[in-house]
Amino acid sequence: MNTPAADHVHALLASYPDFPQAGILFRDLNPVFADAKAFRSLIDELAGRFDGQFDAVAGIEARGFLLAAAVGYAADVAVLAVRKGGKLPGSVLSEEYDLEYGSACLELEIGQLAAGSRVLVLDDVLATGGTIAATSRLVERAGYHLAGVGVVLELTDLVGRSRLGDAPVHAIVAL
Ligand code: PRP
Repeated sequence: MNTPAADHVHALLASYPDFPQAGILFRDLNPVFADAKAFRSLIDELAGRFDGQFDAVAGIEARGFLLAAAVGYAADVAVLAVRKGGKLPGSVLSEEYDLEYGSACLELEIGQLAAGSRVLVLDDVLATGGTIAATSRLVERAGYHLAGVGVVLELTDLVGRSRLGDAPVHAIVAL
């Protein structure tokens, strides 16, 4: 049986063939975020699934920021922003990664949390897993413990979960 959040995702998720390039079926979660009850249900499910298991959330640019901010507020924990390369000042860690289309770099500022802090990584979509795998490496290189991974949508054909190691992964919807 679906959770309330999964029901909202199934009802509101939009799909765009050949965006941003030919052969890609783009899944747009913005209509889910734009519905107040649906958005609240996402946050409740992600925060509830990992209740008591994390000291901080790390949101991945860009839509992961929306989830991390809200889950961080709901759980009263710290919020980290994992940004695309070149956006952060000071001492940063960098990880290259492959995307479903193209490649990129993600970065995390060091020294924001105590060593060993339990970090929950949040993003909107798990596709090939490159983005979350790179973020997981950043979290561990920064001296934190990867407490888990939460996403709204997992695209199972791309088997991204197999790249994520042993931390628990929760997807609200798997397609
Ligand atoms: C999308 C999505 C995830 C990532 C998943 O972001 O929001 O972060 O791709 O892909 P993967 O599992 O194959 O790595 P994108 O890189 O398009 O950036 P954006 O959020 O800035 O649009």
